[in-house]
Amino acid sequence: MEPVNLLELEALARAALPRESFDYYASGAEDEATLRANRAAYERLTLAYRVLVDVSHRDPATTVLGTPVAFPVLVAPTAFQRLAHPEGELATARAAGAAGTVMVLSTLSTTSMEEVVAVATGPVWFQLYVYKDRKVTEGLVRRAEAAGCRALVLTVDAPVIGRRERDIRNRFHLPPGLSVANLLPDGYGELAQAAGDSGLAAYVSALIDPALSWRDLDWLRSITRLPLVIKGIVRPDDAVRAAEAGAAAVVVSNHGGRQLDTAPATIDVLPEVAAALAGHSIEIFLDGGVRRGTDVLKALALGARAVLVGRPILWGLATGGEAGAATVLRLLRHELDLAMALAGAPTVADVTRDLVRPV
Ligand code: FNR
Ligand code: LAC
Repeated sequence: MEPVNLLELEALARAALPRESFDYYASGAEDEATLRANRAAYERLTLAYRVLVDVSHRDPATTVLGTPVAFPVLVAPTAFQRLAHPEGELATARAAGAAGTVMVLSTLSTTSMEEVVAVATGPVWFQLYVYKDRKVTEGLVRRAEAAGCRALVLTVDAPVIGRRERDIRNRFHLPPGLSVANLLPDGYGELAQAAGDSGLAAYVSALIDPALSWRDLDWLRSITRLPLVIKGIVRPDDAVRAAEAGAAAVVVSNHGGRQLDTAPATIDVLPEVAAALAGHSIEIFLDGGVRRGTDVLKALALGARAVLVGRPILWGLATGGEAGAATVLRLLRHELDLAMALAGAPTVADVTRDLVRPV
């Protein structure tokens, strides 16, 4: 069945997926307040559209870190995509490339970065989790660079894994045949069942470094020439610190409500982050709850250069593999085109702050 919008895809994916996989993808931390807030915040913002603007020609194209994209929507890094479809990350890479946009590949992918980049028809950025074993981390960065990934996206909101109660109940782990593919050569490829806990939480607490701090950004920049994107910022002071540390971009993100519950909705903090970064040459991206073309328009108006979508791509994969992921990007692009036409903003340069009414 062809979905009419991204929101209804979630129910279709729920029907298509084993319970444990659906729950892992869908869940937020604890009461899931932030998960809901990310969506609810968009509905509180209204669009003050302009009229009598010639919108006969519309173009949503832009650039991210100097790379042209067909529209300002990138694919967020999400772990374990082969839980959704046997082609997993390969299908996502093909769909993103066909849509003319960037795929951000998770460290915790179920397909190795070399295999993903080999089939990709568009740019791939590598999302990095820093392992306690810095030699292993350095190896990942070097491999990403050698494979042809064009940026490093350092996720900073997950020193430990948020408490996702469905995963604890389900004893979430990877089924036989699936692994943390990028880490197989280092012996960290297995994500096993953990007694009384989510297997992911156990994996992360055993292997990912909770000591990671601002000091480590110098180290990271010393081992790679790739542009650095800092993902998981919700505070203006942290955003400024990222800019001062030489980041090329920040992602305003609360990890889709999966980490600190009751963290603010990303669209609510975007204006203050954008204000703090005025005068810094750094790009601002945003993710969390982006499901509608009007959401993208609001994020652009409030200071984002582009947004990323996480779960909808997983729902697309679950319901239709590569074609399903492509449908998600096509629907969102179509809705954005419509929103730009109706708001009197035919290009991204016309999407200005005044389109969103102050609340
Ligand atoms: C994620 N996210 C994530 N982020 C990251 O940096 N590395 C990762 O491996 C993952 N894995 C992951 C798995 C799943 C199942 C989800 C839902 C999310 C967070 C992701 O990049 C992004 O921040 C959010 O998904 C954005 O919110 P939406 O679009 O899902 O609402
Ligand atoms: C997640 C991790 C892997 O959100 O980032 O599940």
